[in-house]
Amino acid sequence: MYSLRGYNTFGIEAAASQFVEISSVEQYVSLRNSCEFAHLPHLFLGGGSNVLLTKNQEALVVKISIPGISIVKEEADYVWVKSGAGVVWDDLVQYTVDQGWSGLENLSFIPGTVGAAPMQNIGAYGAEIKDTFESLEALNLQTLTLEHFDAKACGFAYRESFFKRAGKGQYLISSVTFKLAKKPSLKTSYGAIQEVLAAKGIKQPSIREVADAVIEIRKSKLPDPKEIGNSGSFFKNPTVSSTEAVRLQNQFPGIPFYAVEGSTDVKFPAGWFIEQAGWKGFRKGDAGVHAKQALVLVNYGEAKGEEILALSEEIKKSIKDKFGVTLETEVNIL
Ligand code: EPU
Repeated sequence: MYSLRGYNTFGIEAAASQFVEISSVEQYVSLRNSCEFAHLPHLFLGGGSNVLLTKNQEALVVKISIPGISIVKEEADYVWVKSGAGVVWDDLVQYTVDQGWSGLENLSFIPGTVGAAPMQNIGAYGAEIKDTFESLEALNLQTLTLEHFDAKACGFAYRESFFKRAGKGQYLISSVTFKLAKKPSLKTSYGAIQEVLAAKGIKQPSIREVADAVIEIRKSKLPDPKEIGNSGSFFKNPTVSSTEAVRLQNQFPGIPFYAVEGSTDVKFPAGWFIEQAGWKGFRKGDAGVHAKQALVLVNYGEAKGEEILALSEEIKKSIKDKFGVTLETEVNIL
């Protein structure tokens, strides 16, 4: 048995029957063609930053560590950067920021790997991966051939993609290519970014200054997984119909909300509901709700996956009872 504690940012202790780390697609294909692990299901892990392990895994856990960052095309205004799935997401982001290429700076300091990023169309501070995504390559796990996906084929939506829905469990994402701008078009409208830049007296920020502002905000609100186990936002921000939104706004004056691009639906911050329901800073044993961001569940040390899951169910029930709103889990429960 192999301990997965060091392979999930929640820091949950769980065992895997077998474990292997791969640095190329070919390595995985030859593994599949050998009969060594044929009797076990395969479970893929990137940075383990969006999973909650609730049991031992009767599986071959495959840690994807495919390396490499390269420029695949360059024009006067744009550069296309390809990254192996195993590259640490923030290593790619900081590399592109250092080159002066714009597009990923708002997504600074997000834990996880490049290959996992398109799965849930990671997003933060007014940007999502879909905004700069060009294409990806993924191994079809049935045919063992590489397939090419453009943005449309990936079916990106808020924290969603084809790989979380119809394509779930059927592909191993091996590389992702981004189209980045050499002439920066910065997204600084997000309130917290504006506040940090204003406090520093920065009126015309550079790409680096936007990235640093994002890093500062994340450090101030979100727990560092090296210190307190967590998987970032545990729930999605709920999206409701405009009728339901009016009900919430009438019943709870002052409730924050966001318009949803291309829809009359309205998005509400789950963290607000959770805080209003009194959960912020709650702790039971080693499972808790982060004191600075109610959307983040934490493991103070020895919490079991089941305990975090039970806490999340209690929170969901209380939000349903108090606000009539259904929270959906963002983290993958394994
Ligand atoms: N809020 C509260 N109390 C809280 C937390 C939030 O009232 O404890 C309310 C406040 O009104 C606040 C608003 O929620 O203004 C938004 O909070 P915040 O800016 O922290 O963002 P979020 O909606 O809670 C989302 C993403 C984060 C991302 C931030 C910034 C989701 C599920 N989460 O959180 O993504 O970093 O916006 O863009 O959409 C992640 O997915 O793991 C993640 C960290």
